[in-house]
Amino acid sequence: MSKLRIAVQKSGRLNEDSMRILKDIGISIDNGKDQLKASARNFPVEVFYLRNGDIPQYLKDGVVDAAIIGENVLIEKGNDITVVEKLGFSTCRVCIAVPKSAEYSSINDLEGKRIATSYPNTVKMYLDENGVKANLHIINGSVEIAPNIGLADAICDIVSSGSTLFKNNLKEVDTILKSEAVLAVSPVLSEEKQAILDKIQFRIQSVLKGRQ
Ligand code: PRP
Ligand code: MG
Repeated sequence: MSKLRIAVQKSGRLNEDSMRILKDIGISIDNGKDQLKASARNFPVEVFYLRNGDIPQYLKDGVVDAAIIGENVLIEKGNDITVVEKLGFSTCRVCIAVPKSAEYSSINDLEGKRIATSYPNTVKMYLDENGVKANLHIINGSVEIAPNIGLADAICDIVSSGSTLFKNNLKEVDTILKSEAVLAVSPVLSEEKQAILDKIQFRIQSVLKGRQ
């Protein structure tokens, strides 16, 4: 019998809540996080611990069948991936921020400016919509440091509590999108796997109802 391969974030903010919801729907995982793959004891499911940014491509290729992932990552990298369920945790927003002392009234103020970000496609979409041309610097982490070291005039990154912005003397000036964890599925799914997914989705819906 085939198993449904579910990807979750290996480490980071989403990992803990992802493992919790799997546990809450009765899927108990045998081995810990040191393994990159683990089988459920009582359900035809395998869990793959992956880097966030790699998950959209794995879904597209059918390397994994489903994933618990931030919507923001799908918007950045996986526009043809279907979201079947919003999970209500790991809420955040993708924002533009500038140094506290900088003046900002609209995105037009970033014309010709340098923006550091880990979300180039998302920012570009927003700039294009507004007819603004700016220079993007792609950084994979610690984006908020960029204005302080003279690398950028603004940043675009995810904001949750706002604490990282605050600590780096930045202010949030524009919200591009809001995000939360979702259950996403591969476009190539066998009937057998679809049936397993349906069961999981049903259980998730019950758990989410109970959490309200
Ligand atoms: C994420 C994100 C922001 C921060 C937002 O970074 O890139 O920097 O969290 O959360 P906050 O508003 O609650 O401070 P993370 O700590 O995951 O590290 P990274 O950017 O180096 O990957
Ligand atoms: Mg960060």
